Amino acid sequence: MSIEQWIEACAAEDIDVEDVIRFDYEDRTFAIYRTANSIYYASDGYCTHERVHLATGLVMDDVIECPKHNGRFDIPTGAAKRRPVCIALKTYPIKIEEGKVLIQID
Ligand code: FES
Repeated sequence: MSIEQWIEACAAEDIDVEDVIRFDYEDRTFAIYRTANSIYYASDGYCTHERVHLATGLVMDDVIECPKHNGRFDIPTGAAKRRPVCIALKTYPIKIEEGKVLIQID
């Protein structure tokens, strides 16, 4: 049985609109997104194609483009959108409380 917990990642204002930041927690890396309409999302931090940090990629509307081979993922669902990526990105519940970004991880 896995235990889920809410972890504080950053302040909401730490992420610019249409941007992504890296968040490391214990031995894991996450990507925290703020889309053009200021909705926040969280996913695993590495591309599923190779071990590349998505936080150095480009956010365009609801899509993150990997900086290495320009593969794309749908940010809300993690679905692979453009080759060479073909494995979806794991996403995590996220919420804003008192100006803090919290993500739920297991
Ligand atoms: S490492 Fe991300 S598309 Fe290749």
